[in-house]
Amino acid sequence: MKVVVLPGDGVGPEVTEQAVRVLRWFAQHRGLDLTLVERDFGIVNWHKHGTLMPDETWAQIEGADAILFGATGSIDQQGVVPPEERRKGSLLRMRKALDLFANLRPVRMPPALTEASPYKPRITAGVDLCFVRELTAGMYFGTPRGVETLPDGSRRGINTHSYTEAEIARAARFAFQLARTRRNHVTSVDKANVMEAGALWREVVGRIHREEFPDVGFENMLADNCAIQLARAPTRFDVLVTDNLFGDLLSDAAGAIIGSLGMLPSASLSAPDAAGRRRALYEPIHGSAPDIAGQGIANPLGAILSVALLLRWSAGRPADADHLEAAVAAALARGARTGDIAAPGEAVIGTSAMGDAVLAALAA
Ligand code: IPM
Ligand code: MN
Repeated sequence: MKVVVLPGDGVGPEVTEQAVRVLRWFAQHRGLDLTLVERDFGIVNWHKHGTLMPDETWAQIEGADAILFGATGSIDQQGVVPPEERRKGSLLRMRKALDLFANLRPVRMPPALTEASPYKPRITAGVDLCFVRELTAGMYFGTPRGVETLPDGSRRGINTHSYTEAEIARAARFAFQLARTRRNHVTSVDKANVMEAGALWREVVGRIHREEFPDVGFENMLADNCAIQLARAPTRFDVLVTDNLFGDLLSDAAGAIIGSLGMLPSASLSAPDAAGRRRALYEPIHGSAPDIAGQGIANPLGAILSVALLLRWSAGRPADADHLEAAVAAALARGARTGDIAAPGEAVIGTSAMGDAVLAALAA
């Protein structure tokens, strides 16, 4: 398989380097047929090529079996790069152009991190949930959008929360199918009480449940209530399906259960083509973290666990994915901690030492 690696901005290159070491391990020791192509992404392209997205990089992205992505967002991008260039080289363009509508964000509590979590152990024990965040519509892409000048000279910013029945339906089907492989329960999250698009969301997801997945446990939940339930009783959730914006917010909120966004991986998937292959992009859900970039202290486990998702969803190697997730759990159980997941008094290691710890556990 051809994997295009885009390390990107901030801590992206540091964490991606460790993820690539792990991916290479599966090529060397488990016979994964792997071609790696690495390309610059983000502000570095602007400095080198005067564009955020060279045509050749875009051609690689379109021809990839999977993309391993680091992070996007750089402070020197603000103001320097013109808006059309920013759009051309944006993560959002990739999501839209590759039609990566299903964003999987699993949140699982590693027992070894109980003390790193800000929550009580009785709340975090056994948390194992997965968001299916719709990723190619809603507030991020709806039109009209923009900033317009009003007759009095003041301005108005506009974005549109828009969902078609088809966009809702495919996210819902993905979530119900995923639930059947897990604990068979779906929570659909919306603001049906306020938004027309939310009421349509609820209607369509409910119909798909009744007509196609009546065997799957199902509930609707308002997004504000979901925010507090994620903090009070996160073990009640299995699969959560929600729109682009709520999914962004709530998955970060769920990250607090573990204690650090640095732990969380994601997969963004298209519908399968005739041959059953999905386009796919894998990335940690944390951002570029410019405040700690270049220091070698970022947690690479979100990126490394994204490789596990790649093995499961793009390489068709579920046993290898399980092996990698177990290796991460084992490294944590042996006490490997970057600063973001260390409890008071615990010794802290850097980004590449955490990569070493996972590789050692893989080989053990
Ligand atoms: C995420 C990020 C992105 C988003 C940003 C970087 C555009 O926060 O993947 O959650 O808002 O979707
Ligand atoms: Mn986000």
